[in-house]
Amino acid sequence: MRTQVGIIGGGPSGLLLSQLLHLQGIETVVLEKHTREHVLGRIRAGVLEHGFAQLMRQAQVGERMDREGQIHEGFFIAHGGRQDRIDLRALTGGKTVLVYGQTELTRDLYEARDRSGGKVIHRAQEVTPNDVNTARPYLTYRVGNEVARLDCDYIVGCDGYHGVSRQSIPQERIKVFERAYPFGWLGVLSRTKPVSPELIYATHERGFALCSMRSTTLSRYYIQVPETDTVADWSDERFFEELRARLPPQVAQGMIVGPSIEKSIAPLRSFVAEPMRYGRLFLAGDAAHIVPPTGARGLNTAGSDIHYLYHALLDHYRSGDDEGLDSYSEHALARVWKGQRFSWWMTTLLHRFPEHSPYEQRLQQTELDYLFSSQQALGSLAENYVGLPF
Ligand code: APR
Ligand code: PHB
Repeated sequence: MRTQVGIIGGGPSGLLLSQLLHLQGIETVVLEKHTREHVLGRIRAGVLEHGFAQLMRQAQVGERMDREGQIHEGFFIAHGGRQDRIDLRALTGGKTVLVYGQTELTRDLYEARDRSGGKVIHRAQEVTPNDVNTARPYLTYRVGNEVARLDCDYIVGCDGYHGVSRQSIPQERIKVFERAYPFGWLGVLSRTKPVSPELIYATHERGFALCSMRSTTLSRYYIQVPETDTVADWSDERFFEELRARLPPQVAQGMIVGPSIEKSIAPLRSFVAEPMRYGRLFLAGDAAHIVPPTGARGLNTAGSDIHYLYHALLDHYRSGDDEGLDSYSEHALARVWKGQRFSWWMTTLLHRFPEHSPYEQRLQQTELDYLFSSQQALGSLAENYVGLPF
């Protein structure tokens, strides 16, 4: 089989790129390791910045997102028993974010690919990029007992943090930057009315907590837990008791609790691989970088990679201009690192660090005091949260 762009990974990055290129008449094939049901079973964050939502519309998959997604004009930071609002709209000259689950967004992308006869090959095992340093790269993979070969002009690795693309690059050609945090987030999804119409990020001496949502009837809550904890350590009852203890009393009192319909622990870590290109293999999204979820940057940063790569491929196929492909890694990484910085800053501001000295605890307190005493500091938080320009 032959295509123009071979895409490894059918998560949001791979599907969005495939859909955008399709609309421009550029052929793609997506190779996804798992079944569609498996991909759609993952519960992930759901705060979309303006630029990401625009990309969805550009890909003609924004209709349900615009109908069902909730526009959020602000969020709260709870600290010291009170909550202060970050007025995103006022602080950014009118920008907002859209709350729309990543699972729904991925479903929309799959349906769009179906409608236009897009090729997404599921259960593709042993996907391997070959000859990426030549003008004729190809992918090999196996579905069941059938081994297949996909010849392409370019290969894009959208196969997430554990994928094969990054790992196929010789170690001496890639530099990795990482930081692991000594805690994770325990998340619970419950079919209850969210405690607040806007997100609440809470910092407390017992640890960080987040009140988020997927809709007006579906709540998503998180608490910071030690990295050694397991889901089995946390009954629903214990979870909600701990969550409430970390929220201001008036918020805790108003919380409606219900049985969890999903419960999982995600470790917190930061990771960047540089460069994001090796020959004719390009990396995008979680395959090249991950962030702790605190600043809601993960999916949004994947979106900026796709934006740059889409335009670069378009220039190549339309006018033979390879400047965008040649500068992709540099451009994408400049924005990736800003997302890393912001995620690190939000994480450091709001979590309890077991290793922190009393001095560092005071600095953290002072950072919060400063934030709420300075319009400039609030403006900086807001402009990063709604997404820096591409
Ligand atoms: N071969 C084929 N597909 C693979 C392979 C492989 N060897 N390894 C992984 N995959 C698939 C996964 O099954 C998954 O469906 O690649 C896909 C990667 O998707 P994501 O992990 O969702 O990564 P990405 O599409 O970059 O999404 C951006 O933003 O909010 C964050 O982490 C969150 O997933 C989110 C990300
Ligand atoms: C979520 O709703 O899952 C969510 C929201 C905001 C974040 C992280 C996760 O910063």
